Amino acid sequence: MKTWMMFAFVSIFVLSACSAGASSTISTAPGVLPTVPPDYAGKSNPFGSDAAVAGAVVFKTNCVTCHGDNGLGDGPASQTLDPRPANLAALNQKVGDDYLYWRINTGVTGTAMPAWKGILSNEQIWELVAFIRTLK
Ligand code: HEC
Repeated sequence: MKTWMMFAFVSIFVLSACSAGASSTISTAPGVLPTVPPDYAGKSNPFGSDAAVAGAVVFKTNCVTCHGDNGLGDGPASQTLDPRPANLAALNQKVGDDYLYWRINTGVTGTAMPAWKGILSNEQIWELVAFIRTLK
């Protein structure tokens, strides 16, 4: 009897540890955003908010298909994607420049979101960050 109880206790512990581990790696869990890695944490936009004008053009060319004209995650390609593209207007309220800069650079593993580092210039990525800041 005691052995069984011990086994049950250990199983519950292991299961809960596993599920806690899993949920922290799922970036889209409601309300749970991943931590910005040290390489990106604390960075702020060196080009300022004026870069949003150029960012709008870069966004239209590279991002609208998935994220939609207003960044709501409702672009023409969004219907077929799982997970769906992020609602950048909503995300904008919750994160800092460093978060956006990191996500655009490295993409989101396991989703259709590409890593834009090497495809877009560093300046274009900051322009996108400035543009996303204007989304409501
Ligand atoms: C092929 C479709 C596609 C394109 C093109 C695309 N994205 Fe994404 N994007 C996604 C998907 C899918 C996600 C992941 C959503 C999730 O994690 O649930 C995502 C996630 C993101 C995130 C992170 C959201 C979060 O919650 O952390 C940002 C920021 C972002 N995209 C910005 C951009 C920008 C800027 C561009 C253009 C340079 C772009 N995306 C182009 C599909 C796309």
